[in-house]
Amino acid sequence: MNRVFILGIDGYLGWRLQQHLRGCGHRVSGCDNFFRREVVKSLVPIVRTSAIPRLDIRVTSGLREMLKVFKPDTVVHLAEIPSAPYSMKDAQHTIAVQDNNVIGSLSVLLAMREVCPEAHLIKLGSMGEYIPSSWYHMSKVLDSKNCEYASQLWGARITDVMQGPVYGVGGRFDYDECWGTVVNRWVCMGLAKHDILVYGDGAQVRGFLPIQDSMRCFEIEVAHPPKKAIYRRVNQYAKKHPLKELAGIVASACGVKVKYIPNPRIEANTYEGDTGTEWLEHRGYDPSTDTEAAILELIEHVRPYRDNIDTNQFLPKVRW
Ligand SMILES: NC(=O)c1ccc[n+]([C@@H]2O[C@H](COP(=O)([O-])OP(=O)(O)OC[C@H]3O[C@@H](n4cnc5c(N)ncnc54)[C@H](O)[C@@H]3O)[C@@H](O)[C@H]2O)c1
Repeated sequence: MNRVFILGIDGYLGWRLQQHLRGCGHRVSGCDNFFRREVVKSLVPIVRTSAIPRLDIRVTSGLREMLKVFKPDTVVHLAEIPSAPYSMKDAQHTIAVQDNNVIGSLSVLLAMREVCPEAHLIKLGSMGEYIPSSWYHMSKVLDSKNCEYASQLWGARITDVMQGPVYGVGGRFDYDECWGTVVNRWVCMGLAKHDILVYGDGAQVRGFLPIQDSMRCFEIEVAHPPKKAIYRRVNQYAKKHPLKELAGIVASACGVKVKYIPNPRIEANTYEGDTGTEWLEHRGYDPSTDTEAAILELIEHVRPYRDNIDTNQFLPKVRW
């Protein structure tokens, strides 16, 4: 049994993770500043069975107190603003994302050093760090550098998770341009009988991850803390696909067409660097390879809410 403290526990991944880790026998607590709830309404109702302490992790003194009381073996840091388009809207949004993510992560490192220096930090990065394509992704790159430095400087034990885009219903479900991940957005387009909108020619290859696989990966990371002071990178995705392949699966399942529109983003087609997932696989991760089955299951999960889907949320409005 581990004592796991989740920062960002009210979010898409966070709430599902606390349920999953409790199911594995861990003692779990966490905090959230409820930013995500305040900026967007979830399509699928948010169900919470217990109160979540409110804390902005940039308030280092408050974080220190919470960690001191809980005494975690593991801290999972999900408490960031996870949106590339949001970070590219204008100067105010760019600064807000970098401030929240970079200063928040630094605050976590500093608080843990004082209160629980031996604890294992699992920090959520992004596969997008291999090809930064927004100020959001740059905040992740800066976080990684700070994590690496904290490990060298005072021996912090850190797993920096390079995670690909997740799909499925989590602690919430969003489909708008800023907060919906791409497959979740397409499922809503398909259920609304709208064309599936693909940015550019759809040849961009990304490592996708069904949410249940994401939970399994976290479970493995929690169960394998570094034995000594180390900063390690772990890539986390089930399978790489070109966007157009997954768009085709959603389109044929929902009986609609795929439509290619000018890419509002400047982005590379493929990742650069070592993107292997051996670390997880050697420790028991068996990636879901039937992406089509996972998408079909997701469509059925979201279908009951299709009348509440707002088609005005489909076209991208932020361009860079
Ligand atoms: N969902 C994905 O596909 C995906 C893919 C790769 C990486 N990630 C990363 O995983 C992490 C979690 O993503 P998510 O999809 O669950 O996002 P989310 O927005 O649903 O969850 C983040 C939670 O953290 C909270 N939060 C944000 N800033 C905070 C702060 N300063 N103090 C306290 N709480 C704060 C938010 O209110 C939210 O509940 C993020 O770091 C994201 O970049 C997600």
